Amino acid sequence: MCFRNVVVFMVSILLISLIDGFKLNAPLDKYFLVALKDYSSFVDALQVARHNHYKFVKKIDGFQNIFLFEKLPEWKIGYGNKRSGHKPLQEDSRVLWASQQKILQRDKRDLINYDEDDYNEIEDHNSNYKQTHQPTFNDELWEHQWYMSTNSSLPKALNLNVLPVYAKGITGRNVRVAVLDDGIEYDHEDLIQNYDPQISWNYNEDNADPYPKPDDDDSSHGTRCAGEIAMMANNKKCGVGIAFNSRIGCIKMLGGLVYDLLEGSSLGFGLDKVDIYSSSWGPMDNGQTMEAPGIFAKEALERGVALGRRGLGSIYVWASGNGRKKGDNCNCDGYAASIYTITVGSADDKGRGAWYSEKCASVMTVTYSSGNDSDQMITTTDVGNSCTVQHTGTSASAPLAAGIIALGLEANPNLSWRDVQHIIVRSATREPLTKGDDWQKNGAGLMYSTKLGFGLMDADAFVNLAQRWRTVPKQKIAKVNGSLIENPADALSNTKRIIFAYTAKTIRHLEHVQVIFTATCQCRGALEMYLSSPSGTQTTILDRRPRDFYADNCFDSWPFMSVATWSENPYGQWQLEIRDSSSMGNNIRSIGPVQLVLYGTTHAPSTT
Ligand SMILES: *[C@@H]1O[C@H](CO)[C@@H](O)[C@H](O)[C@H]1NC(C)=O
Ligand SMILES: *[C@@H]1O[C@H](CO)[C@@H](O)[C@H](O)[C@H]1NC(C)=O
Ligand SMILES: *[C@@H]1O[C@H](CO)[C@@H](O)[C@H](O)[C@H]1NC(C)=O
Ligand SMILES: *[C@@H]1O[C@H](CO)[C@@H](O)[C@H](O)[C@H]1NC(C)=O
Repeated sequence: MCFRNVVVFMVSILLISLIDGFKLNAPLDKYFLVALKDYSSFVDALQVARHNHYKFVKKIDGFQNIFLFEKLPEWKIGYGNKRSGHKPLQEDSRVLWASQQKILQRDKRDLINYDEDDYNEIEDHNSNYKQTHQPTFNDELWEHQWYMSTNSSLPKALNLNVLPVYAKGITGRNVRVAVLDDGIEYDHEDLIQNYDPQISWNYNEDNADPYPKPDDDDSSHGTRCAGEIAMMANNKKCGVGIAFNSRIGCIKMLGGLVYDLLEGSSLGFGLDKVDIYSSSWGPMDNGQTMEAPGIFAKEALERGVALGRRGLGSIYVWASGNGRKKGDNCNCDGYAASIYTITVGSADDKGRGAWYSEKCASVMTVTYSSGNDSDQMITTTDVGNSCTVQHTGTSASAPLAAGIIALGLEANPNLSWRDVQHIIVRSATREPLTKGDDWQKNGAGLMYSTKLGFGLMDADAFVNLAQRWRTVPKQKIAKVNGSLIENPADALSNTKRIIFAYTAKTIRHLEHVQVIFTATCQCRGALEMYLSSPSGTQTTILDRRPRDFYADNCFDSWPFMSVATWSENPYGQWQLEIRDSSSMGNNIRSIGPVQLVLYGTTHAPSTT
């Protein structure tokens, strides 16, 4: 206890001058984030606030034109001004956007309860195991870290191939990783030397101490996620972190009220220091939620990739979500579906896509995690200076990916956020995974599955390619409007088709593709959507979601994202097919506008 206080004290001294946080008090809906047009000074902001009867609270750090206002209660508005009252801030011509704060429901992506497992696929993994790397660590649970290749009764292929990387002396040195989570037990014996207070903050309490709530069983998640990345090696305690010499911090933002300002602040915290942000949470994985980052969180992600890591771009790693059994699809989670996040799913210790791991076209890769009850799970640190061999869910997969990326960044610190994605696409391996999981070869010859992405991360392959990688050419963006085509046969089968013609030659090597989709409907969950590329790759960008009965404004410029056509040449005709599996006949009330957004480069990325 005594020691912990000393650390907290040091942390406070280090950070007090760097941060100007602010804690919102309930009710949240009196607070508004307001972006003013162009460059704005305090004076402009004060005027806008006063004019509309708001109190100016503060300028938001790191953004030139974003401010926090608080709505004045009616009785505080002078009597003479009553009639002009509170007008919507958006109506002020100086305001770009205004966003009222509200409580956001966010779930941690580990598994509390196991659904009964109905996966009975026969595994066909390689069983010619030869142990080529000797276990070298004395940590008490090293033997349980099957996914790092230690258990001689498991096939060699079933691991993330980290030992050859350690053999080269690469262990994550000088790379700083922050988990966005519910706290970190930074005085844990297996974390203490790697803990970095400069990349840690507590946004729930607005102070520099991200320690989990004491005596709260429910706040072990952050400590578990952090340990997977940065448990110390050879100290006989717990296991070994994937990047066991990296620096680890926690931006505490779960475990209290979550709102847009808090999320955006967390995603942008320590932009000049944090290399990798690892998030194992998101909107509810209940098969019916459709929620994107708020306007400020979205700005924070854009700012992160533009300004983070001295302009190379912050790396955002995201857990795909655990809602597969509930028919969820991670393209309905705007955090996972963002082009700025690397969406990571889970494979179990049989090499199968884990039963809970959500599939969607924005899944880029998988790492190992838990399977069903009797399968091996993930070893890590736990609260109370303890250890666990039972970390689960896609929550456990994202930090393993973050750890591997940290190894790659030590090997080549010059990788941009897009370089990292290119390297994952090319270095992930399909070999140890079961063959049945909707694998498809795209027009550039890359194998892709919406369940398993481009495959399992392979740390050695990732690092080797990172060392030879040349910075990708500048990102080009092309937008193509869609047009609905009428076809009598489609009307009979309740299908609608939209075509997009990309006839420019600016982009010849694709990265991400988005379909920005607007439609009104009567039952959102009954719709399935497929995108076909000019090379003939057909990708499911939305699965049917049997629990989603939402009606009305079903999709309001929703950005569906796909990485399935990575490296293809996008020239030619694209087609979006919307199938309605309801028996309503008139489920879709209106469609449009629909836009295809292509991201990529004119010239192919290359290695040296
Ligand atoms: C868990 O997986 C194992 C091996 O794949 C299988 O034998 C077992 O039946 C599964 N358990 C449940 C509860 O489905
Ligand atoms: C090694 O793997 C086997 C097969 O999955 C398992 O039964 C055993 O418990 C594992 N040993 C350790 C120490 O994890
Ligand atoms: C990174 O870039 C800097 C400046 O461009 C260069 O001097 C350095 O050699 C590069 N490092 C690696 C590992 O490529
Ligand atoms: C594409 O659609 C958007 C809005 O839906 C519109 O503003 C824009 O002018 C259109 N572009 C073209 C080239 O038609």
